[in-house]
Amino acid sequence: MNFNSPKVDQKMALVRTNKTWEIPESLSTDEADFWNRRTFLKSAGLIGTSLLFSQSPLSAATAGFPTKRNPKYNLIEAEKITEEKYVTGYNNFYEFSFDKEDVKDKAKHWKTEPWSIEISGMVQKPSSLDVNELINEFGIEQRVYRFRCVEAWSMVVPWDGFPLKKLIEKAQPLSSAKYVKFISFDDPEEAPGMKNRSYPWPYTEGLRMDEALHELTLMVTGVFGKPLPNQNGAPVRLMVPWKYGFKSIKSIQKIEFTDQQPKSLWNELAPQEYGFYANVNPEVDHPRWSQAKERPIGSWFFQKIPTQPFNGYAEEVASLYKGMDLKKNY
Ligand code: MTE
Repeated sequence: MNFNSPKVDQKMALVRTNKTWEIPESLSTDEADFWNRRTFLKSAGLIGTSLLFSQSPLSAATAGFPTKRNPKYNLIEAEKITEEKYVTGYNNFYEFSFDKEDVKDKAKHWKTEPWSIEISGMVQKPSSLDVNELINEFGIEQRVYRFRCVEAWSMVVPWDGFPLKKLIEKAQPLSSAKYVKFISFDDPEEAPGMKNRSYPWPYTEGLRMDEALHELTLMVTGVFGKPLPNQNGAPVRLMVPWKYGFKSIKSIQKIEFTDQQPKSLWNELAPQEYGFYANVNPEVDHPRWSQAKERPIGSWFFQKIPTQPFNGYAEEVASLYKGMDLKKNY
């Protein structure tokens, strides 16, 4: 990995060879400085005064806990994980609010149990699967993944969940199915952001079948060893760690197997800015900003670290895109 400090390289060499998904010590950041800056901006009246990071109610899907961290997807040292208050207090969930720090409050009364996922399209047998039953059937584990938003900030998060592959195998798609389409919920009464009908709700996303079946692709039902809070996409969301965060659709209600490349909400709104693949790529800039670096949330405001191809998971996933022009297929 290209941003390990020499100290860490030495340490890693002594212990074992680390996988590219393991996070180097140099990612460790100082939370206090970030918050001091926020306090300053706030007192200067530059940001909203909403109550940040108050305790949120957890969603109800408690099945599967406690989880064990899978050592295959772990850190070198645990303290590089982004603080929980940022992970659960700085959210993109446009159905509820366009203000990241307001999502938690707007979503706090939302009921997400019972919840089932409707399986349709090119499958042996369409079905409706209860999330808690899926958790009981597959079990869940914890994995620490890098998380890189297209907006050039990043986090390191311990997600709890099960591989999407298990669900796909259960759903038994036809061999003619080439893509998986994910559709989120549609409820403007509960989610005030959805009253803005200039967005093509519900939020939708898609993956190629081989991406969906990849071992890194996770169906997330928890974070920090607890059920997923509403603001993070309760009760079940996707996590595709080598892609920009917008691919990781929250609160999935429908999964459809298809032979057509699915349209996604962002792709429909601004195709020149948000492609279907959305693989993290420091060499392909967003039309309005560079993607070469990222700001770890919780770090100094001006601290930037280099963004890695495929968000540091190139060894595991680059072969999926062999022969493809990644500048065209952004
Ligand atoms: N899923 C839904 N349904 N609605 C959204 O607005 N935002 C996406 C993604 N999934 C979004 C979504 C974006 S842009 C990002 S960066 C991540 O969720 C944010 O996940 P987080 O709030 O858990 O950090």
